[in-house]
Amino acid sequence: MSAKEFDNKVAIVTGAASGLGRATAFAFAAEGAQLVLADVDAAGLEATNAKVQEMGGKAIAMPTDLSDAAACSALAPKAVEAFGQLDVVCNVAGAFRFDHATAITPEIWDRIHGVNVRGPFFVIQSALPYLIERAGSVVNVASASAFLGHAYLTHYASSKAALVNLTKSLAMEYIQSPVRINAIAPGGINTAMTMGTSIPEGIDFSLVGRYSPLRGSSEPEDLTDLILMLAGPRGKSIHGACLNADRGITAG
Ligand SMILES: NC(=O)c1ccc[n+]([C@@H]2O[C@H](COP(=O)([O-])OP(=O)(O)OC[C@H]3O[C@@H](n4cnc5c(N)ncnc54)[C@H](O)[C@@H]3O)[C@@H](O)[C@H]2O)c1
Repeated sequence: MSAKEFDNKVAIVTGAASGLGRATAFAFAAEGAQLVLADVDAAGLEATNAKVQEMGGKAIAMPTDLSDAAACSALAPKAVEAFGQLDVVCNVAGAFRFDHATAITPEIWDRIHGVNVRGPFFVIQSALPYLIERAGSVVNVASASAFLGHAYLTHYASSKAALVNLTKSLAMEYIQSPVRINAIAPGGINTAMTMGTSIPEGIDFSLVGRYSPLRGSSEPEDLTDLILMLAGPRGKSIHGACLNADRGITAG
């Protein structure tokens, strides 16, 4: 049997119950990685885990609410307990909703920033000692919204901008260690996030039309090779980057 890119590697994938996180889990499993799958949606997580096992992969499912910092910090030690090492962290999970700025409560704000920024930070913080030991990597999933003022997404867009700077700040702090820390910024992806989102009353559509992808949306599988490239040896020259994969949304 020929060698696979992530043979003998262990990866944590958050958001693994659905969409891009699930597709990322399948892509890592196909390339030989052993996986810790995390998501708040326990049923979706089990479905992903079952498919990974069917593919002949090794994985454990960890139902996790990423807005709970202690639960985030538990993921890396669990990976090491289960598989003896940790090579990759992929923070794919995300929380998204449209709201008028006047309707955003402290609870809604904290939920969005908790899942999209604070959670990834505490997953990475507890993983860093293991990743440094293994010359491993982090891939965070940001968004084109990090780079654009985005009406009705004050909480989401600001959380993704923070995630990009979190990526760069950690990359600088650990520039003298062998760990690599990067992000990707997709545009529209055909997943539950975009298809299942409700639109609040009174939205001015003339303000949001400019974000619709002129070249259409990506399928989750269109983006997984970019994530694997950044996570593994093909990405060895890339550190502290956020790679746009938005079909031109932020081009102009
Ligand atoms: N769909 C898009 O158009 C789009 C565009 C740009 C960026 N993104 C980003 O891509 C990533 C993946 O999203 P997707 O499109 O696959 O959407 P998705 O809704 O299919 O998947 C998001 C996953 O995050 C999980 N999640 C939400 N809150 C959580 C919590 N508190 N704890 C743990 N898990 C939680 C959900 O259960 C779900 O499985 C997200 O970070 C998202 O912000 C998506």
